[in-house]
Amino acid sequence: MVSPLPGVRPSLPASWYFDPEHYRRELEAVWYRDWVCVGRTDSLQREGDYFTARIGDQNVIVTLGPGAALRAWHNTCRHRGSLLCKEAHGHFRNGRIICPYHTWTYSLDGRLVATPGRLEADDFAAGGYSLYAVHVDTWKGFVFVNLSDAPREGLDDFLGDEKAHLENWPLDDMRSVHQAIYSVACNWKLFWENYSECYHCPRLHPELCKIMPVYKKAVFKASDLPGWEPADDNDNGYGRVSANAETWTMDGKSTLPPLPGLTDAERQAGVAFTSIQGSMFVVGHPDYARSVRIVPTGPERIELVVDWLLPSDLANVDSDTIERITGLAERVIRQDSEACELNQRGLHSSRFEHGVLVPQEYMLWDFHQWLRARLVESKPL
Ligand code: FES
Ligand code: FE
Repeated sequence: MVSPLPGVRPSLPASWYFDPEHYRRELEAVWYRDWVCVGRTDSLQREGDYFTARIGDQNVIVTLGPGAALRAWHNTCRHRGSLLCKEAHGHFRNGRIICPYHTWTYSLDGRLVATPGRLEADDFAAGGYSLYAVHVDTWKGFVFVNLSDAPREGLDDFLGDEKAHLENWPLDDMRSVHQAIYSVACNWKLFWENYSECYHCPRLHPELCKIMPVYKKAVFKASDLPGWEPADDNDNGYGRVSANAETWTMDGKSTLPPLPGLTDAERQAGVAFTSIQGSMFVVGHPDYARSVRIVPTGPERIELVVDWLLPSDLANVDSDTIERITGLAERVIRQDSEACELNQRGLHSSRFEHGVLVPQEYMLWDFHQWLRARLVESKPL
């Protein structure tokens, strides 16, 4: 039977995956213009707590300011541009942000409030030297920033229909119980492309295929298969965990209480995804959730930040439980990372100009079209 999917189409030019100039264009067109997730609200507990985050070669500070309002700034001092915070997270004591170089001091709403030791000058007005603000908003406990002066859309519109897939997951009330950070030698697009297809799954992910039998057929969704029919009214076409599995763990079993609020269909499926083109995906299971953020750190390097989330009343679970919920995904991430690194190296061949997308890689084509549109939009006149 012929696939209901489109035929073959070309993939992106190989140089887009390593050329430093093209990398810079993508940072400007995507990463410095769109909303990008940088962390979780639950890591900021009291006024003055902060974390820093990298996006390309930019660095931002996110803090809990007066009245529990989230604030974000570029991590740069208005005096001569020193990095203000070098730690990944911390607490601003006494509500003061103090530059480590000449101790210019800012309040938690970003105003310059002291310049110790500065000789007086008639024409110095502290009001002109507030920190550079960054747009910040949240979705279900995830903190997003937008580095553009005027975001083209609010976070809600930016997330669009993708929000619906995890609508029933109580992510607002969940906390990260484990975080892993991986440095992977590949362009950011390669990791996203790898996430967007399951053509590689039978070869690369034997353990995952046991839990998700549809992946053995080299497709991401059961509905991609020729002649697919829904099994029942609850079947959303994504495929389900195997008959003897409940969730994504090595043995498919769960030792945690089911998350409240999910439908029967969501529990039976065992998995749901919210994908934020190019930069992040959140995976919901019946008993836990996981977020994966891609941070581009160079043309051929990313950092992957992976968090495993549980309801806040389970935030102190023992290490065995953590191992159970992290084991399968950690295995899969290592398998994917290795494949992406090989892909990156192979792209440097002088004979390889671009590749070809096969039918079940249609989400890569959508991603490429989305990226091309972003690049055209942002191209300077
Ligand atoms: Fe920050 Fe001088 S650069 S006080
Ligand atoms: Fe994979």
